[in-house]
Amino acid sequence: MKKMLVLVSIIVLSLMTACGNSEGASGGEGKKSVGIAMPTKSSERWVKDGENMAAEFEELGYKVDLQYAEDVVENQISQIENMITKGVDILVIASIDGEALTDVLNQAKNQEIPVIAYDRLIMNSDHVSYYATFDNFQVGVQQGEYIEKELGLKDGKGPFNIELFAGSPDDNNAYFFWDGAMSILQPYIDKGQLVVQSGQTKFEQAATLRWSGSKAQERMDNILSAHYSGKQLDVIYSPFDGISRGVISSLKAVGYGSGNKPMPIVTGQDAELASIKSIIAGEQTQTIFKDTRSLAEKAVQMADAVLKGEEPEVNDKETYDNGSKVVPAYLLEPIPVDIDNYKEVLVESGYYTEDQLK
Ligand code: GAL
Repeated sequence: MKKMLVLVSIIVLSLMTACGNSEGASGGEGKKSVGIAMPTKSSERWVKDGENMAAEFEELGYKVDLQYAEDVVENQISQIENMITKGVDILVIASIDGEALTDVLNQAKNQEIPVIAYDRLIMNSDHVSYYATFDNFQVGVQQGEYIEKELGLKDGKGPFNIELFAGSPDDNNAYFFWDGAMSILQPYIDKGQLVVQSGQTKFEQAATLRWSGSKAQERMDNILSAHYSGKQLDVIYSPFDGISRGVISSLKAVGYGSGNKPMPIVTGQDAELASIKSIIAGEQTQTIFKDTRSLAEKAVQMADAVLKGEEPEVNDKETYDNGSKVVPAYLLEPIPVDIDNYKEVLVESGYYTEDQLK
């Protein structure tokens, strides 16, 4: 199968070269080239990440081959294989399944193509040179602290009913967000100030494959009908805006956000446009802003340094063990956002315009 893929790639490449189209390949005008493999366009953040990186690499004189795999692991693997066959000089990868790239990274290793993990750590490979991301544990802590503050948990208030959502079990980040959030919330669950009526308190029970909003919506539907007749749900811990919006659809369908059923506090992450609009509309409560412009800039600086034989700047050499090595990382700072500071953080910084938020 792999041989077939390589053969097909070679044929496609020869055809492209014959037609004079060598986009994304190195050589040609002597420019170095970068292969960027992104997970999906279905979440707006990855579109921005990809566009920002492509623009910055191009500004530095690199050719860019930017590919999205629509959350299909096999597509991402063959996209990366194609990039290797084309002879890119470096790969920047935001993985779909962090555990599924060991073989393809071995191919990159054989061709001496360095790899930078973008936002998500690639697991079980010693061929990940660097990792550009945010402080993922801190993201969870900020989400948990938001709930703690809004509910007055430190002052002993409660009990409140909470339901917990986690990210995709094949994404290393999901565990960091969960552990960060639970470092704040678990003591209140233990004391009974937070009550999980569904009893689903384990990561595996709360996990949402591929971060899917519709899967989260379905799980919320089930929990509401099984555990909340005659009970008010007060807060949802959600690690990601797409999940938050799925959950909110489910809540609205049973009347939350109207009459005497106030919308629960709902956290999130990524400051996606639809979620900022939802915050303005009084539905979602909070999100975490991770400036994709800064992340893209970091990853581009890392790749540029590696290609020039220099040492990229890192600020963490301990946290991200991928099973084969501890990957040196640069962690950026996440920023919590809600109705009170979205203008200052997102509009004044130029991330969104006022018009986009209407
Ligand atoms: C994570 C990422 C989050 C969110 C999520 C779903 O890996 O760190 O910011 O984007 O994927 O796409």
